[in-house]
Amino acid sequence: MSTSDHFRSDPDSPLWHLRYVDETGSTNTDLLAEADSAPDRTVLRTGHQTAGKGRLDRRWDAPPGTNLLVSLLFRDAPEPADLVRRVGLAVLGAARRVAGVEAGLKWPNDVVVDGAKVAGVLAQRAPNGVVVVGTGVNLRWAPDGAARLGDIDPAVFLEQVLRAFDELPDDVGERYRSHLVTLGQRVRVVRPRDELVGTAVDVDADGRLVVVDECAISHRVDVGDIVHLRPH
Ligand code: BTN
Repeated sequence: MSTSDHFRSDPDSPLWHLRYVDETGSTNTDLLAEADSAPDRTVLRTGHQTAGKGRLDRRWDAPPGTNLLVSLLFRDAPEPADLVRRVGLAVLGAARRVAGVEAGLKWPNDVVVDGAKVAGVLAQRAPNGVVVVGTGVNLRWAPDGAARLGDIDPAVFLEQVLRAFDELPDDVGERYRSHLVTLGQRVRVVRPRDELVGTAVDVDADGRLVVVDECAISHRVDVGDIVHLRPH
């Protein structure tokens, strides 16, 4: 089944162009393929992905119909890092409203509940500058070690994500930092070629995590997985 609809979170917000398909490979890949034609704020949700993409070339899997799997397309977009923050904060807002759960953000783009991942965000830029931001939110199902929010209709959750997105201020920097549970933590940064242990002290304007290592040397990390370590 395939459906389309429009949604406006309030009279002052631009329209979201919503589409739903029962199954596809990846909603991010689909919207990137439409980068020349799809209107700004196109939203593609699916019930099942057969080639769902996670960060760092990983897969993102969930049984059919269980979780929110959705991508949002933005034209004239600010930096992908800004959109990743906005979508992460919007998922946080929806988790609070729909599930009554206070979630946090783990750098760079995970939404966590009590330290366990409940959602991930993946931004990709098309050659023409269009940015597609996808998120997968564990609602009724979660892989081992991850969290889920409960028996929530993915369409209902999505509506709250879009509302929360539209309510964000122009500058989300402070709000992002206030929810970033990584800050102040001792972390191990697992990068493609090496690892780094230190304290996460800041995020810079480009979205890089600033980590001070045990020799007091400051590193700006743009790619990597973060493991939160116990304090000394
Ligand atoms: C991560 O690795 O944490 C990011 C996961 C992003 C998954 C979502 S599900 C909807 C959209 N389509 C994809 O193929 N990936 C994103």
